[in-house]
Amino acid sequence: MIVTLTVNGVERTVDVDETTPLLWVLRDELDLKATKFGCGLAACGACTVHLDGQAIRSCSVPVVAVADASVVTLEGLGTPDAPHPVQQAWTEHVVPQCGYCQPGFMMAAAALLAEVPQPTDEEIDRAITNVCRCATHVRIRTAIHRAAEIGAGESTGAEDDR
Ligand code: FES
Ligand code: FES
Repeated sequence: MIVTLTVNGVERTVDVDETTPLLWVLRDELDLKATKFGCGLAACGACTVHLDGQAIRSCSVPVVAVADASVVTLEGLGTPDAPHPVQQAWTEHVVPQCGYCQPGFMMAAAALLAEVPQPTDEEIDRAITNVCRCATHVRIRTAIHRAAEIGAGESTGAEDDR
């Protein structure tokens, strides 16, 4: 089946089985490897991307369901010259350990900040249900607060981990 979707602002057309998960279209058809496979069951969040601005788990969404929609992956979140506040904050706080889960966390964090620009710890914990087996969750929460500061135009230095 021919499916057209917009990925990172560019219209793309793929010829795949309509049941193919969006994750595999991104990785295998469009060569966008930032988005990761973890569980395949919509449980871990490694495959999180934005669909029309909402964080979704791309392992569990058939590509046919996103036809004509706008998908953003980590590759499209910012650029090296103009990184997204989440990318800046992640760098400042050296958040990743092995790094495997981090693209999903960053996309989930960016979606949260678009809706709640200054989230509390409780709002972060409620919204970000991704899994990190390297246990970077504390640094992730700190980095989300820092990204909120950057997004608000504040340029204070990195804070201590909370
Ligand atoms: S791979 Fe999609 S939620 Fe785990
Ligand atoms: S940084 Fe290793 S799984 Fe999260």
